[in-house]
Amino acid sequence: MAIKPVLKMGNPVLLKIAEKVEEFNSPALETLIEDMQDTMASLNGAGLAAPQIGISLQLVIFGVEENTRYPEAEEVPFTILINPEITPLSDEVEEGWEGCLSVPGLRGMVPRFTKLRYQGYDQYGNVIDRTVEGFHARVVQHECDHLEGILYPMRIEDFSTFGYTEVLFPDQEDTD
Ligand code: NI
Repeated sequence: MAIKPVLKMGNPVLLKIAEKVEEFNSPALETLIEDMQDTMASLNGAGLAAPQIGISLQLVIFGVEENTRYPEAEEVPFTILINPEITPLSDEVEEGWEGCLSVPGLRGMVPRFTKLRYQGYDQYGNVIDRTVEGFHARVVQHECDHLEGILYPMRIEDFSTFGYTEVLFPDQEDTD
């Protein structure tokens, strides 16, 4: 178990298409997931993708209980999602605030599909197949974007919303 440094925007690894995970239930995968959990928890993040700690594999983790980074956010169950596929279930798109551990100190409004189905596997190779909406759908889209080399600023349409967290949300304690 270890807290790993999170790569920041500008690092070319964050722009790569991640490789599929081929072997489930392996010690290497278990260690990687533990490192990601430790790293995400240490930074109070809502999610983390393996490429953010330099491992270009299709693996994301996410989950929100009470999170000071997103005080208004709905709860999202803690999930380990491997080789994910996302299918939007309507054309409806909603703008919402996002931040990213690879883009520390900033926030922006990002349009995302409001309702989608996601499919993939957990670390043991069990199928995950969920239909979700709202903040859960947003978090999944943000994390899975990391596997395609996309960071949320690349999705911003109205750049007047892009700014420093401490300026946009002066009452929020955690500014990363
Ligand atoms: Ni991110």
